[in-house]
Amino acid sequence: MKGRFIVFEGIDGSGKTTQAKLLAEYLEGQGKKAVLTAEPTKLPTGKALREALGGKVKKSECEMAVLFVQDRIAHNIVPEDGIEALVNAGVDVICDRYYYSTLAYQGQSTDYAWVKSMNLSCPEIRKPDLCIYIDLLPEQSLERISKGRDSVEIYENVETLTKVRDKFLSVIDDLSATDNIKVINGYRTPEEVAAEIQKTVNAL
Ligand code: TMP
Repeated sequence: MKGRFIVFEGIDGSGKTTQAKLLAEYLEGQGKKAVLTAEPTKLPTGKALREALGGKVKKSECEMAVLFVQDRIAHNIVPEDGIEALVNAGVDVICDRYYYSTLAYQGQSTDYAWVKSMNLSCPEIRKPDLCIYIDLLPEQSLERISKGRDSVEIYENVETLTKVRDKFLSVIDDLSATDNIKVINGYRTPEEVAAEIQKTVNAL
């Protein structure tokens, strides 16, 4: 039996990374094999993205969109621990961010239809079985970010996050007919959020 491919999305500080970890632990506790992964990846394509996100290397918005797609393809097809290989081996793959992020960030800064087509029409980019969008207001997320991190990346300020959240909500609306997306209220305790996610995953 194939594994499931579950993606977590949300604006920065929404709690998606914590919830992705909690879900992996929960599935393992049920005796399932689960692997936690993230984008940008730890592959060379992902490292190049991190440098650009940190402001170390300057890239145009279109270059960023293409780099995210390139990193996503590598993430899917890399042998043994790529998404495709793991899912085919019966492992549940849980991914922190995926193409919904590219549509929300780069779809906003470049051309939405172009970014959507590169991601959704690519034969080497798998469609998730479930996307969990953890919804939080930008002010709430920035409060969490400022408590937990030393450096603030280029995309993080209220004005930008508000635009990104609005864009995420419109991406969800746009993809609601083709993708299985569940919006979860993130303004609760981690345990409450985790319980709702577990219920949703158990119903898959
Ligand atoms: P992270 O904070 O989840 O590690 O993500 C790093 C940054 O990368 C975050 O600010 C959002 C941005 N990003 C995009 O702009 N497009 C994408 O496709 C992905 C996966 C991330």
